[in-house]
Amino acid sequence: MHTGLLVKQTVESAYLMLAVEPTATLTILEEGAVSVAQHLNIKVSEYDQRIRTFIPSYDEMLSTVAAAVRSIQKPGPLIVDLGIGTGALAMRCLTASPGSRLLGIDADPQMLGLALARLRRRFSTCTELVNGDFVDAFLPRAHAIVATLALHHIRTLKAKQQFYGRCFRSLHRGGLLVSGDCFMADHPRLASQYMETWRAHMREYYSAKQVNKFLAAWANEDTYFTLRQELNMLVAVGFQAEVMWRRAPFAVVVGWKQQAK
Ligand SMILES: C[S@@+](CC[C@H](N)C(=O)[O-])C[C@H]1O[C@@H](n2cnc3c(N)ncnc32)[C@H](O)[C@@H]1O
Repeated sequence: MHTGLLVKQTVESAYLMLAVEPTATLTILEEGAVSVAQHLNIKVSEYDQRIRTFIPSYDEMLSTVAAAVRSIQKPGPLIVDLGIGTGALAMRCLTASPGSRLLGIDADPQMLGLALARLRRRFSTCTELVNGDFVDAFLPRAHAIVATLALHHIRTLKAKQQFYGRCFRSLHRGGLLVSGDCFMADHPRLASQYMETWRAHMREYYSAKQVNKFLAAWANEDTYFTLRQELNMLVAVGFQAEVMWRRAPFAVVVGWKQQAK
């Protein structure tokens, strides 16, 4: 873990550094990778406002993840935020857990630029930002790995379970993996009811046609496994798994890496 807030802002340009030690290895956005602006069909600068029109109870979900992190009883815990985006979750975790350090990983340099702007004033000395793909990025030994609305970018059960295995191995004993995301129902009737709930939220802001267009575009790029599948994957790699919060189809799931007996 390096000290200082550090981010590579564009694919080809120089590092923008705050504070000290420009020693981190930064990876570069792969050519052809999908940006958040393309994926959500918005301007990145609008993200913080638009995400609330897309995701019901977004703030509650983030606060729940931050509350889970607060439960770690270690001085100066290291938190890894996968798909940090504009830093909204990171800000809550760092605030909820004073003295913590945070590594944020994201594939989109524009989003990292916004995270940098959000975190630089209060948290420049305890945060590091890395531009890269979290699936194959180096994961340091951490006390918590958190993610919101990010892990649905992993497309297959096999890849996701393997990734959960890597998270498990990188955590300290007593550490936790917390993910807030869309987790579907096993039963198709319940799943379509959940989709209606989601659609109704978006209809407060968009026409039916717009909502259909958004959801169809995301369905092409995102993969929502069921809550049961997620819990099974976590348990399969060694976690003790729990659902901490549910506003279907969204939920916060926690995987605990138990202390040695
Ligand atoms: C919908 S945003 C969520 C951002 C933030 N966690 C939040 O809750 O507002 C998803 C973020 O994950 C990032 N992302 C998606 N797949 C990624 C990957 N494989 N590696 C790194 N970042 C990824 C995107 O660039 C984006 O910033």
